[in-house]
Amino acid sequence: MRYTAFAITTLLFFFGRPASAQINAARQLAYCTEQVKKTLRIIPRHGNNIPRSIVPGSSEWKFVGYKDWCSGFWPGILWYSYEATKSKTFLAEAAAFSSALKPLSAQHAFDHDLGFQIFNSYGNGYRLTKNPKYKAIILKTADTLATLFNPKVGTILSWPREVPGMQWPQHNTIIDNMINLELLFWASRNGGEKRLYDIAFSHAEVTMKNHFRPDYSAYHAVIYDRETGKKIKGLTHQGYADNSMWARGQSWAIYGYTVCFRETGNAAFLEFAQKVSDVYLAKLPADGIPYWDFNDPSIPNAPKDASAAAVVASGLLELSTFVKDKAKSQKYRKAAELMLTSLSSSAYQSRNKNSAFLLHSTGHKPNGSEIDTSIIYADYYYIEALLRLEKLQKGMKLN
Ligand code: GLY
Repeated sequence: MRYTAFAITTLLFFFGRPASAQINAARQLAYCTEQVKKTLRIIPRHGNNIPRSIVPGSSEWKFVGYKDWCSGFWPGILWYSYEATKSKTFLAEAAAFSSALKPLSAQHAFDHDLGFQIFNSYGNGYRLTKNPKYKAIILKTADTLATLFNPKVGTILSWPREVPGMQWPQHNTIIDNMINLELLFWASRNGGEKRLYDIAFSHAEVTMKNHFRPDYSAYHAVIYDRETGKKIKGLTHQGYADNSMWARGQSWAIYGYTVCFRETGNAAFLEFAQKVSDVYLAKLPADGIPYWDFNDPSIPNAPKDASAAAVVASGLLELSTFVKDKAKSQKYRKAAELMLTSLSSSAYQSRNKNSAFLLHSTGHKPNGSEIDTSIIYADYYYIEALLRLEKLQKGMKLN
């Protein structure tokens, strides 16, 4: 039923309106960079000053320090703002905010989030400036992340620490970890060791085998026996239930397997990226923005998650460039455009309410934290998706 609603809305949206009604990526990018300027005007210039989220009804950012898993998104947004505008101010701010994260490359890995942190900040910085100091930091961080790999299991230990409320004596891997593989793939083709590629490849393959239900929806976490490598069970930490489809978890799978295909050329990853996308698209509400968990029984009164929509939109735009079947490729491109159109409407953009780009993301519902808020990673993937869409609209390649 819901799939039918999504398909009909998509058809009406794209074929029932003139072409000029389609999203103007350049205009939405201009909106984003104006919001960034507003944040730069209010950000404190000392201490823990990396924006993370804004609660509904407020315009005040909650700021965090460099160790927070979200620390790379704000510098990443500044790099994307520089890419969109070529403004020297954004360049200087991007470099300054990235520099706060440098210690992460040199200390013990305390979780898998190093890719989110260092690749979104320094990774984008190196892509745009080719500064060799940035490259050295990225390579060092990749080696740090690799220390969490358990060869008996074949995956990275995502949380090598106590997780509040979760007693997991064994090896845990979370679906979010898929995003941090890009750092390893990149490092192995930019001067790092070949084993970094092998670790990322193994993680993606083992996860593909163990982390999904028969309908291709993802568990949030899988627990393995750290000695035998055997899967013990799949469960959730941030989703509604162990067997539910947590929207952002599925978004990490869609984005992650698309990157794995780009980096390896392995056809199994491309096929899998489509499978995990198709189950998500089939169950979406008509506006293309998911509820925080597809199985929350309080739907349609459950909170939405704009961040998952932004991640998926960005991932699907890239996936659409890899899929050879024209109809399927168009399906992914159009679905991403619908998501970006909804996100760019007054229902989802923050506009004068606060200086983030978007409203209505859900961070950790079971913990009661960051529910229906502006969250920095929604903004990061939104601006990334708009830049990708702009390139595609101009007939340019994404990478
Ligand atoms: N990586 C944590 C999250 O998706 O909330």
